[in-house]
Parts: sequence; C-alpha cells; structure tokens
Amino acid sequence: MSYKLIFPKGFLWGTSTSSHQVEGGNLNDWREWEKKNAERLTQEAEKNYSWLPVWQEIKNQAQNPENYISGKTCDHYHLYEKDFDLIKSLNNNAYRFSIEWSRIEPEQGKFNQKEIEHYKKVLLALKKRKVVPFVTLYHWPIPLWLKEKNGWLNPQSPKYFERYAKKVMENLGKYADFWITINEPLVYGANSYLAGKWPPQKKNLFKIIKVIRNLVKAHKKAYKIIHQLDKKAKVSIAKNNVYFEPYKNKLFNKILAKIPDYLWNKYFLNSIKRQMDFIGLNYYSHNRIKIGWKKPRDWFNQNENKEVSDMGWEIYPKGIYRVLKELKNYKKPIYITENGIADAKDKKRAEFISQHLKWIHKAIQEGIDVRGYFYWSLLDNFEWDKGFWPRFGLIEIDYKTMKRNPRPSAFYYAKICKENQLILNSQF
Ligand code: FCB
Repeated sequence: MSYKLIFPKGFLWGTSTSSHQVEGGNLNDWREWEKKNAERLTQEAEKNYSWLPVWQEIKNQAQNPENYISGKTCDHYHLYEKDFDLIKSLNNNAYRFSIEWSRIEPEQGKFNQKEIEHYKKVLLALKKRKVVPFVTLYHWPIPLWLKEKNGWLNPQSPKYFERYAKKVMENLGKYADFWITINEPLVYGANSYLAGKWPPQKKNLFKIIKVIRNLVKAHKKAYKIIHQLDKKAKVSIAKNNVYFEPYKNKLFNKILAKIPDYLWNKYFLNSIKRQMDFIGLNYYSHNRIKIGWKKPRDWFNQNENKEVSDMGWEIYPKGIYRVLKELKNYKKPIYITENGIADAKDKKRAEFISQHLKWIHKAIQEGIDVRGYFYWSLLDNFEWDKGFWPRFGLIEIDYKTMKRNPRPSAFYYAKICKENQLILNSQF
C-alpha cells in the first residue's frame, strides 16, 4: 500500500547555495582567515572529528591543510549556466543563492559594475529556465574594508549594509521578487562572537549582543529600502530554528527549554516581525534540553540519538513539524530556505528528504502556510571551518576536474519536484 502526499499548487521546489561556499575566488574576511587558520584546523582535526562515525573515511582530507582553503571551490562563478541546466533537468522551479558583498563593493562606497553585471547574467539565466530566484544579500563573509572597520561591531555597519542593498536593488531589483537580507544571524553571531570559532573569533557576550542588534538594524533598513525601490518585493531573513525538546517531557525541562527557544528561535523574528513578508526557515536538527553541562559536541551527538549525518548532526525530521507549528503565530507564509544532510555515500539523503517532507506536509495539512522547500545544497561545497569533507550536495563535485555528478538522491528529489507529490510506502 502506498500513500500519496500532494503539495499545494504552485509549491516551489528548489535548492540553496551561498556565494562563498560555491563561487570560488572571493576576496573577503573568510579567505584571509582560511589562509591563517588552515594549519591549525588540520592539527585540531583528530580532536574535533575522531568521534564521528566517518572519521576513517575523512581523516586524510581533514588532516590536509588544503581542505580548509575555499580557493576555487566548485567554480560556480564560471559554471553557473551548467549548474542551472542541471537544476532544470532535476525539475526544480526555484533556486536560492547569495550575492557576494565583497564582489559588489570591494572598496568602501565603490561599486564594481562588472560584478553587478555578473549577477544580472545569473538572474537572467534563471529567468530563461523559468526558475524562481531567492536572492540572499548577505551569507556571512564581509568585504575586507568592513573587516578593517570592526565588521558588524561597527555602529555604522547597518548603514553600510543599507547602501549595499540599495545598490543591488537599483541594478537587480527587477529580476527577482524574493529577497533574503541576512542568512542565519544567530548562527553567525554565535560562531563568530561567542564560540570564537569563526572569524573574527571573539568570545564575548557584549559583542555578540551588539552584533545581533546591528544585524536587526541592518535588516530593517534594507527591508525599507528594498520596498521603496520595488513595491512587489517580498523580503525576509533565513532563520535557523531548532526544536528544543524538553528531555523526557519533564515539567522542569519544559520551563528550561523556553529560554533557548526564546533567545534562539524567537528573539530575532520578534524584533523584525513588522519588517518581514514571509519567513525563511532553515532547519537541520534538534536538541534535548535538561539541566547539566554538556560538551558542545554532545549538543548534537547525544546518547539518545539514533541516527546522525556524516557531521554527527542528529537526523530528526519531526523537529521540522514542531518548529513550523511554532511559527504559525507570525501569520506569514513560510518557505523552507534550507534543509539538508552531509552524506558522502548518499545512503541516507533520499530518506532524509522524504521524512522531512512528510512532516512538512502534515504541517501544511494542519493549516501552516508552507509555500516552498529548498534542499541544502545543490552542490557539494565549502562547509566553513570544516572545509570540503562534508558532502551536502544532491550533485557530487569532483574538485579536481570540477565535474558534476548527480547522486541517486538527486533523481529521487527530481521526481518529487516533477509530480509535486511524495509517495510513501507507509503512513505515520
Ligand atoms: C547552514 C548554513 C549553510 C550551510 C549549512 C550546512 O547553517 O546557512 O551555509 O553551511 O548550514
């Protein structure tokens, strides 16, 4: 017996990427940081990753400094037409990508018209293939001039971002309707200003608060200017939300779980709720909340976890349903702007997608207005401080030849996209 889950008419089916992770050849704060830190990351690899089930398979790569240098990555900057042909052949009708701030504004206040033209061509190439673009303005790396000025700690940073957004809209506004100002502000803030893992490697509560406030301001300013320049534009952020499950459903844990739920899931959205036309949701994993100290790695890899990805992130599809239900209060359409798995052997990806879609469909059935799903990622790519060993792509990249090779799960996803429905062998 099989069950058909039909998605709403006009549902968007796509994939996501980000400029620094796929384009190659960017000159920004990350590139500098990679060069300075590749050696250290190589030395720390065993300590950081030997607990992973895939350690034997990844250890050579994780202990090679080249793994930590983004370099050419997938060369999507030059091969985007080819990649869009693949998108089309996989029946996708949408694509989320980011514009690289450091390309558009390599020097403060000086804009590079050639790079603007590049993104115009990218947008036209999507249009030609009838693929709906979701354009992210900022997906983490900053231009070097802004780094010199203290990045997002600088009180002027929201204004700088507004000026950049204005320039992009004036030139490219007419080629896209959906705009995402900032990708995952809290993930960025936490890793860069609290955990000290990503550039500029700060561990300071006051600094992260300042950065988050500036990101809120930056979003609001960009929202306003985008709407001034294009009345029809739909603007939001991509927000990483986590399902914080009270451990064993105990009353005390229920109360405790409200703290991270507010700070991580709600604070930013509440701050911009009058400046968002939809919600972009990025969902990856979940976390059980109880009292007691856990090592950061155990936040993901807990004893109770049954299944994990290559990176040790728990696979917990029901969490997307929980998170979606919570977003109902905002009364906005929702697009899943990221959801995906690092799975080099492609053994779990198809099941990962179908299980998440099953729970998304249930949320839709219960009145949650979900209008699209973007798998992360179209291509294998440069996974920040982890480098190249995590393989998120529906399409495998051979980094030596730049050859693209769609994995079996890509064809599985393509069928869902084509039919606008998911066929399951068993019910809930
Ligand atoms: C998200 C990021 C994205 C990618 C995935 C795996 O948090 O937005 O760039 O790294 O995780």
